[in-house]
Amino acid sequence: MLKGKLIMNIKIAPSILSADFWHLGEDINEVISAGADYIHFDVMDGSFVPNISFGIPVLKCVSKHTDAFLDVHLMIDRPLRYVDAFADAGADLLTFHIESDDEDNIFKAIEKANERGLKTGIALKPKTPAEKAFPFAEKTDMILCMTVEPGFGNQTFMADMLPKIRKVRDFLNEKGLDRDVEVDGGINPETGVLVREAGANVLVAGSSVFKAEDKAARISSLRGI
Ligand code: DX5
Ligand code: ZN
Repeated sequence: MLKGKLIMNIKIAPSILSADFWHLGEDINEVISAGADYIHFDVMDGSFVPNISFGIPVLKCVSKHTDAFLDVHLMIDRPLRYVDAFADAGADLLTFHIESDDEDNIFKAIEKANERGLKTGIALKPKTPAEKAFPFAEKTDMILCMTVEPGFGNQTFMADMLPKIRKVRDFLNEKGLDRDVEVDGGINPETGVLVREAGANVLVAGSSVFKAEDKAARISSLRGI
């Protein structure tokens, strides 16, 4: 376990869903200065998930003003339709939910994103078994295991997702695939330890980072240092 901890490159991705949109630019700059590795964008369409958040114009504006790595989590139906628009808006990585279309179209979305020079991720809702991600593992850069039902920030971490995270990491190790395993929902310094031990290396954190008085200290503790 110690060896795994030492070699794993932990990345912290603050979710701007918990930022104050009145001064979004300042909030983003603040978490970047505090050591954030990615900026996580939660795009919601009110259909794939019950909530509506923000989308292409906001991403376009942010990408114009920062070089930060923009990790875009698409909680939208049939995301293939929007790959070009999100690529044009400046996304660095697009994550597609397996449940948002049939397998064929998700593969097409990955291909299209790669053609546009973007990295990709595959996301699993809590009830979707780990095995559903396995056919995509070779073609994608990251597997996202949701640790809350997608749709809202500031929910309670689902500890019963830990075996699934371990299953995904074990599968990747068995196949010799060097891929990121991202977790999203209810991540704080306490649950962060659990997900890192289960094999996650990209930790999305919304409320935990944006509510923290000392954001640099919070990001370090999420990283486990
Ligand atoms: C939930 C979103 C998350 C959320 C995380 O649908 O995908 O990224 O903003 O928020 P916290 O860290 O507050 O649970
Ligand atoms: Zn997210």
